[in-house]
Amino acid sequence: MLRTHTAGELRAENEGESVVLAGWVNRRRDHGNLIFVDIRDRYGVTQAVFNPDHSAAAHAVGESLRGEYVVQVKGTVRKRPDDMTNETLDTGAIELLVDEAKVLNPARTPPFTLNDEAPVSEELRLKYRYLDLRRARLQQNMVLRHKVVAFIRRWLDEQNFVEIETPILIKSTPEGARDFLVPSRLHPSRFYALPQSPQQLKQLLMVSGMDRYFQIARCFRDEDLRGDRQPEFTQLDLEMSFVDTEDILALNEQLTIDLVHEVMPEKRFLQTPFPRLSYDEAMARYGSDKPDLRFEMALVDLSEIVAHSTFRVFSGALAEGGVVKLLVGPGLADYSRKQIDELEAIAKDLGAKGLAWAKVDDATTATLSGGISKFLSDEESRAILDASGAEGGDLLLFGADRFETVSAVLGRLRLELGERLGLRDPEVFAYAWILNFPLVEWNEEQARWDAMHHPFTSPQDEDLEKMTSDPGAVRAKAYDLVANGWELAGGSIRIHNREVQRKMFDLLNIDDTHQQTQFGHMLEAFEYGAPPHGGIAWGIDRVVMLYAGEPNIREVIAFPKTAAGTDLMTAAPSHVDEQQLADLHIALAGKAVKR
Ligand code: AMO
Ligand code: AMP
Repeated sequence: MLRTHTAGELRAENEGESVVLAGWVNRRRDHGNLIFVDIRDRYGVTQAVFNPDHSAAAHAVGESLRGEYVVQVKGTVRKRPDDMTNETLDTGAIELLVDEAKVLNPARTPPFTLNDEAPVSEELRLKYRYLDLRRARLQQNMVLRHKVVAFIRRWLDEQNFVEIETPILIKSTPEGARDFLVPSRLHPSRFYALPQSPQQLKQLLMVSGMDRYFQIARCFRDEDLRGDRQPEFTQLDLEMSFVDTEDILALNEQLTIDLVHEVMPEKRFLQTPFPRLSYDEAMARYGSDKPDLRFEMALVDLSEIVAHSTFRVFSGALAEGGVVKLLVGPGLADYSRKQIDELEAIAKDLGAKGLAWAKVDDATTATLSGGISKFLSDEESRAILDASGAEGGDLLLFGADRFETVSAVLGRLRLELGERLGLRDPEVFAYAWILNFPLVEWNEEQARWDAMHHPFTSPQDEDLEKMTSDPGAVRAKAYDLVANGWELAGGSIRIHNREVQRKMFDLLNIDDTHQQTQFGHMLEAFEYGAPPHGGIAWGIDRVVMLYAGEPNIREVIAFPKTAAGTDLMTAAPSHVDEQQLADLHIALAGKAVKR
């Protein structure tokens, strides 16, 4: 080893020891006679002192040092004078009096400073990700991520799970998003797909009798990116045989609780056992299937109260089969016109036609003012206050539109106001299960039913009949684990019965030929004795993001892609040469040919 200790290790007890450290120059302060150099590695920072009276040779090396040089220093640990100790550093009680120093590698001046968390453009950070990763924040995130995954592996191993790798080159199968395709050189005009998840393979492993499978699996989805989405991301994927919903929920809940206690002991669960909400309930109350339950501020349905409203925004929405709902901004009646306009802009971004509002002057007399108050009768105002419990000084925000639009808009505004009111305490984890998802959802554009999850998700037993009579009312044996407004995991009990699977394909309008070409291998496998089984997958990136308190998953991925799906460090995706294309039997069409 080129060192005896790390830069985070030395304490007052080490006084007098002769040690060797190696690391990067975090900071260098030249006081003429004395030079102070902070040496940094993954473990911390240690101050080294170069004194020409002690060693002229070492001092000369000290003079040549610049930020991010890689150095090796040999010296003696000594206590800092009482008034010079640095409480913010673990090693702040000591320093190293340097006997010998050696530059292991000089460094160019980095494009941004690495020794503090000063804001740097994300473009620059991603282009020089290997430098960005030297900074404390990302180092901590990487270590946290490792701890999360290491704990999960240990825990599942103790529960008799077997970690099994599944292929990355698979057959293209629909899971909701677009596939990334890989052309086959050996089989012209054929393609592999990168797995959107190991869904089918883990089910096949249940047919194999593996009983309890898990994998820390990379998944690939060619979809539009957001802060919580990457084109490649990591799942904890697991599947179990001979289980029902309760078994999966219990196991994952216990794993979550044990994991948080281990890696985030300072955090607090809002509620254990985790509360359970139906999908309908979550949508109705919070306008979201991944509600942030750290605060209440539930939406209130006013459709009946304003059924005969003279306000044409309300009557118009109701006449078209829509809803009118209310979000109460507690104590926000002092919002200025400008602040309300800001909220309206958010609403319009999400597809709202506007954002009607009113202020509560006095709740006992049901006096409202401003906005649309003049369109509300006394009875309506009274009923709105009774239904919502709004009080004097509150701001009322109304959404009138299709249920989906109103939910999206008021759900988002609820988060916005919760944030502004300081109700989203980062120290609290509000985990919850969302249950009773619909099995299918109506695809307006294509005029057909789509699987809400995937076509192997089991309907609930008591809803089997409705698969033909009222598909929209069939609930699935599906579940999501959410926390603080994020969907962290999702899964289901699968269909293992051939007859039910056929009904499902019929419902999804997947004909026999399609069933055979797309899912033939699954259907065939299920004829050889498929055990009842089910599973779930966690978004590991999202879990770590939540734990680290990061605003987006790029901060917990070593080498993430930009929101446009590019890798700025290696410049991927990139053009490839003609020969590579020719080998793959690919000719670029039209515009794509231009370089
Ligand atoms: P699902 O598609 O719900 O289920 O994915 C499971 C979890 O993976 C995370 N996730 C993502 N994270 C980052 N970037 C993305 N683009 C992304 N997409 C999903 C989410 C989500 O909850 N095979 C099923 C699981 C099963 O049924 O067992 C599946 O993949 O946290
Ligand atoms: P208008 O009569 O169009 O000026 O709208 C009156 C108020 O209702 C304004 O504050 C609009 O922002 C608001 N508004 C319009 N359409 C909707 C809608 N679909 N949902 C909620 N508020 C709306």
